[in-house]
Amino acid sequence: MTTEPSTRVMTVTPQAVAEAVRCLRAGGLVAFPTETVYGLGADATNARAIARLYEAKGRPAFNPLIAHVRDAAAARDLGKLDPVANRLAEVFWPGPLTLVVPRQPDCPVAELATAGLATIALRVPAHTVARDVLAAFGEPIAAPSANRSGHVSPTTAQHVLSDLRGRINLLLDGGPSPVGLESTIVACIGEPKLLRSGGLPRIDIERVLGHPFADGPPSVETGDEAPIAPGQLASHYAPRTPLRLNANSVRAGEALLAFGQPSALGSDPALGVLNLSPGGDMIEAAANLFSYLRALDALGAPAIAVMPIPQTGLGEAINDRLQRAAAPRPGV
Ligand code: TXA
Ligand code: MG
Repeated sequence: MTTEPSTRVMTVTPQAVAEAVRCLRAGGLVAFPTETVYGLGADATNARAIARLYEAKGRPAFNPLIAHVRDAAAARDLGKLDPVANRLAEVFWPGPLTLVVPRQPDCPVAELATAGLATIALRVPAHTVARDVLAAFGEPIAAPSANRSGHVSPTTAQHVLSDLRGRINLLLDGGPSPVGLESTIVACIGEPKLLRSGGLPRIDIERVLGHPFADGPPSVETGDEAPIAPGQLASHYAPRTPLRLNANSVRAGEALLAFGQPSALGSDPALGVLNLSPGGDMIEAAANLFSYLRALDALGAPAIAVMPIPQTGLGEAINDRLQRAAAPRPGV
């Protein structure tokens, strides 16, 4: 299913900020300027809104999103900042720096927004429009760059429109993004690692750290939102229970991740069944994917049978994730 909202464009006024908040609360998609590039925002705590966001970007895989917050205190509600992360936050926030840190156990951000990972990317932007929207909304905003997958990041409202007109609800036009490069991303999980070069020069960060990054600069990104620095972080959520994909029947003891009408499978699974979307709605299915995988994993069944998911719309990203989760992997 593809919804095609008409895109409203507003120059920035208090009314426009209020409209952005109304739209975010309703689960809508709002593009807004940050000092780095324009972001495509959705309520980070609303899994369905996040599923719509992935659909609007047209990306064939779920990639974790940056949660934008208004200050470091709000960031600490979502993630665990160690002393190094706190120091970087103190010096560089608000600004073009994103910190990847462990998620707080009670972090309200939707699992889909962090692609099921145990870590979360956090950023406090400096742009007044982003800050006004964050302050008025009061919740974290998940926002990737506001471009279609595979295109370059947008630094003007016109760029956003040419990629996303008709796919998002509202665009706040705040003029060109002054930095024009995405945020620099640093993982603070143990030894700090530079995951993406960006608007904040590496040397500035190293000066605060008191030493160079151990790994030097990251390898060049291979595309828009390509999973960064593979191998440096546990980059995919993987359940411990083996997945059996495209299952047309349930075997003894298996749990079942269903889609559509599971009656087609005949028998009831002994342990548990969760249905991603009984009505076959891809947005609903994406919104449920990670939390249902986790819940079924916790049952301790010998396997999770997964019904076939069509490749339409978000189905491509759902299947990408399921295939990664099912693939044999090196010891964790
Ligand atoms: O300047 C920016 O960072 C812009 C503005 C809108 O804030 N946002 C942006 O988001 O560039 P996006 O989604 O286009 O790129 C974010 C990158 C992706 O490569 C993603 O894989 C990575 O951050 N990322 C997010 N969460 C992560 C995590 N938990 N671990 C590792 N990488 C993560
Ligand atoms: Mg991007």
